[in-house]
Order: sequence, then structure tokens, then C-alpha cells
Amino acid sequence: MNEQELIVFFQDIHAHPELGFQETRTTERVLQVLRENGIEVLDSGLETGAIAAIGPAGGRVIALRCDMDALPVQEESGLPYASEYPGKMHACGHDMHTTVMLGAALLLKEREKELPGRVKIIFQPAEEVDNGAKRVLATGLLQDVEEFYGIHSYPWFAPGALGIKEGPVMAAPDGFQIVIRGKGSHAAQPHKGLDPIPAAASLTLAAQHIISRGMDPFAPAVVSITHLEAGTTWNVIPESALLEGTVRTLRPEDRVYIRSALERVALSTAESYGCTAEFTWKEGSPAVINDAALCGFAKEIAQEMGFQIGRQEDTMGGEDFSEYLQHAPGVFIRVGTGGDYANHHPRFTVDPAAIAPAARFFARLAEARLGAK
Ligand code: NI
Repeated sequence: MNEQELIVFFQDIHAHPELGFQETRTTERVLQVLRENGIEVLDSGLETGAIAAIGPAGGRVIALRCDMDALPVQEESGLPYASEYPGKMHACGHDMHTTVMLGAALLLKEREKELPGRVKIIFQPAEEVDNGAKRVLATGLLQDVEEFYGIHSYPWFAPGALGIKEGPVMAAPDGFQIVIRGKGSHAAQPHKGLDPIPAAASLTLAAQHIISRGMDPFAPAVVSITHLEAGTTWNVIPESALLEGTVRTLRPEDRVYIRSALERVALSTAESYGCTAEFTWKEGSPAVINDAALCGFAKEIAQEMGFQIGRQEDTMGGEDFSEYLQHAPGVFIRVGTGGDYANHHPRFTVDPAAIAPAARFFARLAEARLGAK
């Protein structure tokens, strides 16, 4: 595939976005290109997604990872190759990630005889909705991988710029749910019930003190209560109130602290109003921590190839690329894709000019790391 064919492939994937664990057509398209080019596809048993392998066994093993899923967003980009599926859109650039790693696979295949080791290319399903990374890791096909490299589109850099930053680059995105139970009553007779609403309101405010009073001011962390629901009408005190939200942290110890503090504050606040609380924690993936030495190496390669290294903004967004990094070190790399809108926006766009250079970069990086000590 030449540069133009890669762009056509990208536009086709863009026009046919599929949500997490439904990436059947996308997987088919990827497999078709891999097979046409004689690239080995490992027997992963994955229903959607795939793992390709290039190069001989016996040397080092390096993995390149992309994600393939789209978002439940109605596209408003106005592109000629905009989504043909109502309510679904590649609004996070995973179409571009898929195309870049496919392009890298094709370049590595051309150099297969020269490769001193093996590159595994992970086409991961369901990054957005569920933990697709865990499903891929459960195949057992990545146990020999020594380093992982991931890609993400970054609209705030033009094509030709990369973000390669050591240390934490994405947060651990945990969720929680709290149900406060009181006793319903007539709104005119609050003394006959236990109103869960003041308890929920108080808890909403108290939760912020966990950050402002409990956290090291130099450690970023977020508690957001995003869903607060109680009652059905104006003259009835309800039985219960529901709170949901997310906690974002970069350090494992902060994650442990906030989880326990939130539970303590929820239970004790409810109790102080005579109510009870049930606390449920929904563990997300860990924070993405880029390996410092590997970042240095990747930056050198990028600069040799003429890429700019941009100063990327920090984010408390989450990414299940971190699951791979629990097994081996790696780097999550931002690729400048231009555009005026943020990821997940209905008008998010990727400049296709970013694709071929990024494919060359990841292929070169993987090959260089195969030869590294
Ligand atoms: Ni994404």
C-alpha cells in the first residue's frame, strides 16, 4: 500500500465506524490487508481485533498497539467520507491509529528479512467502552513482549509533530456509585421520614474536600460527581438518592487514598443524617506511565526523522494502554493530527497527511528497539 492507498483505507474505516466489541467490519478490512501482504496473523481467538506478527522468533519482541473502536457520536464534520452509520463516529481518531499501525506492519513486512526479532502489532477492540486491552492480554500472546508502544491522535499539534513525554501521561479513570437510603415521607412531614437529599447534597460538597484537604497539592487528582438523582416530584420526600462519578489519579497511592476517603465520607455523611450509604467502586485501568529511557530513545528516532517534539498538555483522561504497561515498559505517543476540535467532538477531524509519516515512525522505532540491548 502506498501513501494514497493508506489514506483511502483510513477514509473507508472512518466512513464505517463500529463501537467497542462490534468492530467486525474493521477487523475484516485489517485482516484482508494483512493476508494480502503475507503477514502472519496470530490465532488469538478474538472476535474483534487481531494480533499480527512480523519477524523471526528468538530475538527481542516489541509490540505496537492501536485501538479500533468508534464512539456513539453523531458526526458533524462535513467530510466527504463522514460516517455512514447514524449515531456512530470515529471521533477519537482510532481509525487513524488503526491505519497507522497497519501501515507500520506493511513497512516492517518489507524489511522482515533484516529484522533481528519479532514485532507484534495489536489491533485492539473496545478501548472506549470496556477494557479491550484486558481481553487482548488474556489471549496469552503477549507474554514475550518486552516493550509496548501506543499511538494517540492529538489535534493540538500539526502533522509532523509528536508528543513523547516521560512519566504519567494519562490518569487512572475509576468510577463510583453511592446510594444513600433514607425513608420516604410526605414533603410536608419531613420528621416522619429520613430525607436522603440533604445527605446527598452535603456529600457532593464534602467529596471535594478529599482533594483540597487530603491530597498533596503537587499530586493531580480529580473527584467529579457527575450524576445526582433523587425523587420524582415536588411534594414527596424520596426513599433514596443516587450519586455517580469518577476519580482520576496518577499515583497508585492516591488512588487507594481517595477510594477509602470517599467511602468513609459517604458512609459517615449518610449516617450523620440518619441515613445509610452503599458505596460501589468501579476500578478502571491504571494510569499510563511512560518509561523515561524509552521516551528518550523514541525522541531521538523522531528527531532523526525530522519530527518536531511538541509540548503536550497534561490530561486526566484514561487509556487502557496502561494494562499492557503492567507487563512491560513502554511509551504512549501522541501524533499531531491537526484540526480545530477536541477528541470526542462531533466535528473532530484527522488530517490524513499525518498517517504515512506516523507509520514510518512506528516501523522505524520498532525495528530500532529490536536491535537494542
Ligand atoms: Ni481515543
